[in-house]
Amino acid sequence: MRKTIIAGNWKMYKNISEAIELSNGLKRELFKLDFESTEVVLCPPFTALAEVAEVLSESDIGLGGQDMYWAEEGAFTGEISANMLKDAGCQYVIIGHSERRQFFAESNETVNKKIKAAIKCELTPIVCVGENLQEREQNKTFNVIEDHIKQALVDIDAQQMQKIVVAYEPVWAIGTGKTATPEQAQEVHKYIRDLLKKMYGEDVAQGVRIQYGGSVKPENILELMAKPDVDGALVGGASLKIDAFAAIVIKSSEVRK
Ligand code: 13P
Repeated sequence: MRKTIIAGNWKMYKNISEAIELSNGLKRELFKLDFESTEVVLCPPFTALAEVAEVLSESDIGLGGQDMYWAEEGAFTGEISANMLKDAGCQYVIIGHSERRQFFAESNETVNKKIKAAIKCELTPIVCVGENLQEREQNKTFNVIEDHIKQALVDIDAQQMQKIVVAYEPVWAIGTGKTATPEQAQEVHKYIRDLLKKMYGEDVAQGVRIQYGGSVKPENILELMAKPDVDGALVGGASLKIDAFAAIVIKSSEVRK
């Protein structure tokens, strides 16, 4: 059985004091959660990582960065390495988010380099894939997903694959209030798992967690989680509010498959 994983991507929201307040609130609300069956990860902006790590130090809630650069160190103004994320207290890192692909020239090739650097540093990569509206309307969803997955995973072996979390985030559902239907999500999640099976075999494919992301809310999490290949969520907007994110986590933790 795959362990549910719910992550909050705070994007470019929350200053340090707001981040402390939000993480403290979540720690309080999730105090009784069964962390054996549900993994929870907060991904604040870089500037708040160290403070949120401090808040989470005596809890089972994990911490992640929203991006990283693949080099270990060097003259790369504005960038942050995997080691720096670890040093700030992270165990996870989001890689290849569609906003990075759309606004900051992230490519499948850079995603691949970042995944390798993250794994080398023992960070768990949360690798984002997903089609935009035009691609969906032109029936290219599976082609885009296949490209994203295959190219992101070039030279990643089966052992490394077991450490990776995949997030399916249809771009047209991000921040739009338009969630994919549970059936649409399941269809793509299954496609991803079948592809991983071809690449890595049944055992690895069955073990990889695939999160859904795109307008996840307390109101729709149960129907998404009810689908067999949906193993969690990557939450944007609703992760910025204590009540909403705690409700998403608690509801997910109650789904038994
Ligand atoms: P929303 O939940 O705000 O649609 O954002 C999803 C997302 O991009 C998470 O990474």
